[in-house]
Amino acid sequence: MKIKHEIFEKNSMILLVATLITVSIGGLIEIAPLFYLENTIEKVQGMRPYTPLELAGRHIYIREGCYGCHSQMIRSTRDEVERYGHYSLAAESMYDHPFQWGSTRTGPDLARVGEKYSDEWHREHMIDPRSIVPESIMPGYPFLATTDLKFKDIGKDLRANQLAGVPYTDEHIENAYNDLQAQLDEFSDYYDGFVERYPTAKIRDYDGDPSRITEMDALIAYMQMLGTLVDFDLYNAAENDR
Ligand code: HEC
Repeated sequence: MKIKHEIFEKNSMILLVATLITVSIGGLIEIAPLFYLENTIEKVQGMRPYTPLELAGRHIYIREGCYGCHSQMIRSTRDEVERYGHYSLAAESMYDHPFQWGSTRTGPDLARVGEKYSDEWHREHMIDPRSIVPESIMPGYPFLATTDLKFKDIGKDLRANQLAGVPYTDEHIENAYNDLQAQLDEFSDYYDGFVERYPTAKIRDYDGDPSRITEMDALIAYMQMLGTLVDFDLYNAAENDR
């Protein structure tokens, strides 16, 4: 055995070829099955594309670099699940372009922050984090509350997402401008068809100032829906049935 092995140790070309053969066998075993799976993302109930307002909030999240301190991906380890809730499913970020899993946690994970706090909490916390959490090192973003949201081109944002594979219909895109406003006020003139297009969207004024649409409205709408789409009681029941 020792003698036979000398061939590899003394001849680098043979070693290289043998290494390549070994690695490709491993690669084939790992990669080939993926081509035969119909879908590597499990199907879950409740996932829907972002509403125009949530999508606008997501853009602000990206613009302000929130991902530099916050992840959106709960790992399947016990400490994470006890702290944040059910671990993240692949399906939960299937409409994210680009995804916001993040790699740093200077602040807590936000994958399930939706409905954890009130809108007022978020508003105060965004304006001045230390007024809520005295030891916080998060920067304040007070200007979001006083900056009008620019959403003239929100239809184009939906269109770009549609091109990336998000199932927005042309109806979604045509109505995006109105739908963004509809989510802030259920009595608005823009309300037609909004609920049918986004069945589980939460409709209310998010920044506490119904007289204008600010970047704060959009960001809080986005925060409040994070991790709330999948009903995990149903999901766990379905898993147990399998
Ligand atoms: C410099 C790092 C940093 C940046 C940038 C940052 N945060 Fe934070 N964030 C923190 C820290 C630290 C905490 C925990 C203390 C606290 O609640 O303020 C936190 C807490 C939070 C919480 C409460 C989470 C919870 O479960 O209690 C939310 C929501 C939040 N941040 C949203 C944002 C958003 C939105 C942005 C971008 C506009 C942002 N953060 C940018 C560091 C950061």
